[in-house]
Amino acid sequence: MEKARLYSGMQPSADSLQIGNYIGALMQWRGLQDSYDAYFSVVDLHALTVPQDPAELREKTRRTAAQYIGAGIEPTRSTLYVQSHVSAHPELAWILSTITGFGEAGRMTQFKDKSSRYGADTTSVGLFTYPVLMAADILLYQTDVVPVGEDQKQHVELTRDLAERFNSRFGETFRVPNAVIQQDTARIYDLQNPTSKMSKSSDNQSGVLYLLDEPSVNAKKIMRAVTDNDGTVRFDRAEKPGVSNLLVILSAITGRQIPAIEDEFAGRGYGDFKKAVAEAVVNEFEPVRNKALELMADPAELDRLLAVNADKAAAVANETLANVYDRVGLLRRR
Ligand code: TRP
Repeated sequence: MEKARLYSGMQPSADSLQIGNYIGALMQWRGLQDSYDAYFSVVDLHALTVPQDPAELREKTRRTAAQYIGAGIEPTRSTLYVQSHVSAHPELAWILSTITGFGEAGRMTQFKDKSSRYGADTTSVGLFTYPVLMAADILLYQTDVVPVGEDQKQHVELTRDLAERFNSRFGETFRVPNAVIQQDTARIYDLQNPTSKMSKSSDNQSGVLYLLDEPSVNAKKIMRAVTDNDGTVRFDRAEKPGVSNLLVILSAITGRQIPAIEDEFAGRGYGDFKKAVAEAVVNEFEPVRNKALELMADPAELDRLLAVNADKAAAVANETLANVYDRVGLLRRR
C-alpha cells in the first residue's frame, strides 16, 4: 500500500530554533517520516510577510534547513526543501486567492492579531494572504495529514474549505487534508516566565533554550530556571508552572511518563531534578547541534541537498499545478 502523504513547514525566522520547535515539531516529524511520505519545507516566502534583512533571511533559511537535518529529518527519506525553490507555490496561491473570500481571509485570528499589533500601515497584503499561500503549500502535494501547532489549526481548516470549494466548482482536483494538532502537553514555556510560551522574541533570553547554543549555556539556563518554594517535583500547571515546564521537557526528551519522573525525584531537591533536566537536554541537543554546524560549515553540500529535494518536490507540485491551470480554463502554452 502506498504511504499517506504528510506535509509541514516552518519559517526561517531565527538563527537557531529553540526547544519548543524541537519538541513540538522536529521530534514529531522525525518520528513520522517512516510511516508517511513526508514533505517538509522551510517557508521563506512566508517569512517575507514581515520585513526581513535579505542577507539574514538567506542565512536563516540555510540554518533552519541544517537544523532540520541535524534533528534527524533525513533528506534522502523525506523531501526537505526550500519553499521558494518550487515556483508552483506562489502560482497556486494566486489561483486559490481568487476563490478565497475577502471576509473569509479577514476572519483568520493570526492575521487579526498580527495586523492589530503592526498597525494598518505596516500590515502587508502578503500577511493577509499568508494562509492562502499555506493552503497552496499543502494542496500542491495531495497531502493527507498536516501536523501543526494549535495556532495553525484555523489555517488548515481554511485549506480544507478551499480544497472542497475548488473540487466542487471545477471537479475533483485536490485531496482534502486533515490537521494533526500537537498536544498541549508538548507546549514549552519560558524558563524565567513559565506562564508565557517560550519565544525567541522574549526580552529575557535566559528563559529560552536554543538548539545551536553551547551546551554549557543551556545547562546554566536550566539550573537557573524559575521554580517555587514548595520543594516537591510535581506536575501542577496552575500552582507550579516552572517545575511543570521542566517536567514536560524531561518527559518529552526521555520519552518517560511524568508520574515516573515525579516518583524518581520524590523527597529530593530541585537541584538534583534540574541537573537531570540539564543533562537530558544537553545530551539530546549535542548531536543535533554538531550535525547542523557541520552542514552550515559546508553550504555548497547543503545547497546541493536542497536542490535535489526541490526537484523532487517540484515534480509533484507541477503536476498538481498543471491540472489546476487546466481546470480553471487557462490556455495551455504550446
Ligand atoms: N504557518 C506555519 C507556521 O507558522 C508554517 C507553514 C507554512 C506550514 N506552510 C505550511 C505548516 C504548510 C504546515 C503546512 O507554523
